[in-house]
Amino acid sequence: MSNTNQACLQTANVSRAAAAWPDFVTTRVAEHEVERVQKRWGGSHLLHGRQPGPDAVHFSSNDYLCLLGEQALVTAQSTAMSRPESELLMSAIFLHGNNPTSRLEHKLAAFTGAEDSLLCQSGWAANVGLLQSIANERTPVYLDMLAHMSLWEGAHAAHARAIPFIHNDAEHAERQIRKDGPGIIVVDAVYSTNGSLCPLADFVDVAERTGSVLVVDESHSLGTHGPAGAGLVAQLGLSRRVHFQTASLAKAFGGRAGLITCPSSFKGYFAMESRPAIFSSGLLHHELAWFDAAADFIVAADDRRARLHAVSGEVRSALAGLGYNVSAGSEQIISLESGTEQQTLALRNALQARGIFGAVFCAPATARDRALMRLTMNACLTAVEIDRLIQVCAEIRDEIGLASWRSTQRLRNAPRARLVADRQASTLVPHEALETAFGAA
Ligand SMILES: Cc1ncc(COP(=O)(O)O)c(C=O)c1O
Repeated sequence: MSNTNQACLQTANVSRAAAAWPDFVTTRVAEHEVERVQKRWGGSHLLHGRQPGPDAVHFSSNDYLCLLGEQALVTAQSTAMSRPESELLMSAIFLHGNNPTSRLEHKLAAFTGAEDSLLCQSGWAANVGLLQSIANERTPVYLDMLAHMSLWEGAHAAHARAIPFIHNDAEHAERQIRKDGPGIIVVDAVYSTNGSLCPLADFVDVAERTGSVLVVDESHSLGTHGPAGAGLVAQLGLSRRVHFQTASLAKAFGGRAGLITCPSSFKGYFAMESRPAIFSSGLLHHELAWFDAAADFIVAADDRRARLHAVSGEVRSALAGLGYNVSAGSEQIISLESGTEQQTLALRNALQARGIFGAVFCAPATARDRALMRLTMNACLTAVEIDRLIQVCAEIRDEIGLASWRSTQRLRNAPRARLVADRQASTLVPHEALETAFGAA
């Protein structure tokens, strides 16, 4: 090992308890420790600040409708766990006929307004498995700059050309398609970094005009948006015009799985082509039982959806009134766009010192100097908790240097200049590393 790496290793205090790592691993880990943790974050890990105390208020959970611990779901799950007799621990591709997985797939398809659906091990596995199985090296995949990383990873796994378009800009997507030909258009219904809503109808039109396939990730809208929680595609009456919807069920459904809506005829093909489906085991009966009960609960949860949207609107307008630029989004995910990692560290510390815990998003989830604190709302937040968040956000403005944030400065500019700045920024945003790797336009 070189002296430099040895020194890095010592500085980084990397553990040598197990078998010695070769230099290429040591160097990579040590560089992270030295460059990021020590130099940029001053020795404190940006994602891990204080331990939350008993009176902490959490704005980091994706359990939007507060299903975790809900008695009907817990009972359904534990009943299934106590009956393991017919359980087979294997890949779901071997399942056929009438079985608990396919029954739930039909139920969730009916819930979203689709013909059929596929359950996957996670939202990540759903997105990677879908794109990897419908694209190949000859297929252009057009992704919104802010599309979830799992969708980029799916294009990568397919060896497809990933071509980004400006966030929420259907015209730009169409211009890109006119250059490179029909392919797969990939959007999120609600974006996970800033809570912006996709203009879905525009993308459906572009997909139809250009002969492209449209994939919509409904992770942050299934259960929370649309009639009885059926999602944004259903809300807009677009179910028959969207080719595939995907979703993580680790958000409003409160469990660990993913979903793809599709025609029934697609399922046999998927079982032979989707690597996450083939090479990883399927869901267990107690997991299926949870989602079965969750679907019933969600259909009847209009009151919780209404509360979630009311809380989101209230917090958004209060934060805007305090001078935070939350204009990028409109839904239950609210981002404080602090900018650099140092500014985000200061924000995290100021919030946590006052008992407010959000989720730090930084590279690779955002571009390097577009780090942010993501606050996710849920239906069970009390008026006292919301007041506390708003009061804390008011109190810390000088401490965190809110006036100097780039996002705040953008707010002060004329609307036209702001639009241009947002667009310039969005051409830099999150997935630049992958774009470079793919050689995307
Ligand atoms: C939009 C979106 N898609 C997919 C995923 C992946 O979901 P899962 O956590 O179930 O793998 C996430 C989760 O971060 C997400 O936000």
